[in-house]
Amino acid sequence: MPDTITLTDDRTGKTVTVPITDGVFPSSAIRQLDPNLFVYDPAFLSTAACRSEITYLDGDAGVLRYRGYPIEQLAEQSTYLEVAYLILYGELPTAEQLQKWTYEVTHHTFIHENMRKRFVDGFHYDAHPMGMFISSLAALGTFYPEAKNIFEPESRHKQILRLIAKAPTLAAMCYRFSVGLPFFLPDNSLSYPANFLTMMWRIGEYEVHPVLERAMDVLFILHADHEQNCGTTAMRVVGSSQADPYSAAAAAASALYGPLHGGANEQVVRMLTDIGSIENVPAFVDSVKAGKGRLMGFGHRVYKNYDPRARIIKQTAEEVFEVTGKNPLLDIALKLEETALSDPYFVDRKLYPNVDFYSGLIYQAMGFPVDMFTVLFAIPRMSGWLAHWDELLGDKDQKISRPRQWYTGVDERDYVAIGDR
Ligand code: ACO
Repeated sequence: MPDTITLTDDRTGKTVTVPITDGVFPSSAIRQLDPNLFVYDPAFLSTAACRSEITYLDGDAGVLRYRGYPIEQLAEQSTYLEVAYLILYGELPTAEQLQKWTYEVTHHTFIHENMRKRFVDGFHYDAHPMGMFISSLAALGTFYPEAKNIFEPESRHKQILRLIAKAPTLAAMCYRFSVGLPFFLPDNSLSYPANFLTMMWRIGEYEVHPVLERAMDVLFILHADHEQNCGTTAMRVVGSSQADPYSAAAAAASALYGPLHGGANEQVVRMLTDIGSIENVPAFVDSVKAGKGRLMGFGHRVYKNYDPRARIIKQTAEEVFEVTGKNPLLDIALKLEETALSDPYFVDRKLYPNVDFYSGLIYQAMGFPVDMFTVLFAIPRMSGWLAHWDELLGDKDQKISRPRQWYTGVDERDYVAIGDR
């Protein structure tokens, strides 16, 4: 069987044959047929907008790999900072590279005092931490005018370091502002997750529990990248205009905020709280099947099997609950999963728990307010966004993102004076 596809324009009889590589064929075939012919593909269901070497996903098999390494092995054996290096630079670091990378990230964790005083302190007292986080990312870019020099390798590397290092600092700052606590400065003697947890929770004496430190790191690893999701696509689209990485990351974080994307973890806990008890699960599932809302934390555009991240998170949840005590919503979640996975509605549509289904339960058990959940997702996703941004800037195939549209509005007509309408 030839690895080609032949397209025929029945209007003209013109035929074009192009190769299929890894299940992809170039859209140039369509342009060759007729430069004014476009593919109507809302939400990019059948469009690969880039080549990427970062993350491999097989949604039917439930496989996720960063740079070839299975997510299960990374979650078991690696750390978030090592994974961030891997995602960004393509290889696991040597001991020396890891030491340098860790030192560099650790020494960029502080943020300019004016960032807190003039920006963060300016938010309304009940501002949502994710709204604050998004705006703070864009504001942070104004402190580094050289960030605009995106084609200078040194400047690019510096901004990558800054964004990865300062994301937890900004996140903790947004949280502490929202509850009226004074900001706690980064402690460079701590690991990346321990530093974040300390900035979040320290009031007087505070020591991070090693199980919770490791759980935070594992959650960071699992959320580091997920190829061309909505947020990463936003990063690439904004990055393609050659905007600075702070502006592009703010756009990516905005996309992540939505309840169908990274905001789902927040919605899962709200949904489980509304369900209230195991007895109410069947009625709730019936209401979803009747079209009254969605089962949050279920379903995925790409996974048509159990999300491998959800499996690891479920395991991590057990370890966390050993320390924090069980989240009372867990029983409802387990019942909901059991009910949905044995119901033809969900089975036929291949709807399985995704990464957000159990993550919120861990976050809540660790003391994070629901409003912080998407911020917790954004902190590690920063490495994925930046890796894609970096890859985009080095990709000769790329240009400014500019999809075509199918115009369905009215034809030309003459302006009507206001008195005649
Ligand atoms: N609950 C109930 N039904 C669902 C759900 C759900 N969570 N997800 C999809 N369906 C149904 C749809 O109604 C549709 O049914 P139909 O064929 O009878 O019309 C079918 O399954 C296919 O759904 P689509 O919306 O076409 O799937 P799509 O790929 O566009 O959506 C999405 C993926 C947005 C993740 C969806 O499954 C969803 O809304 N899930 C809940 C929100 C969520 O958990 N988001 C987090 C995703 S993970 C992440 O972004 C980090």
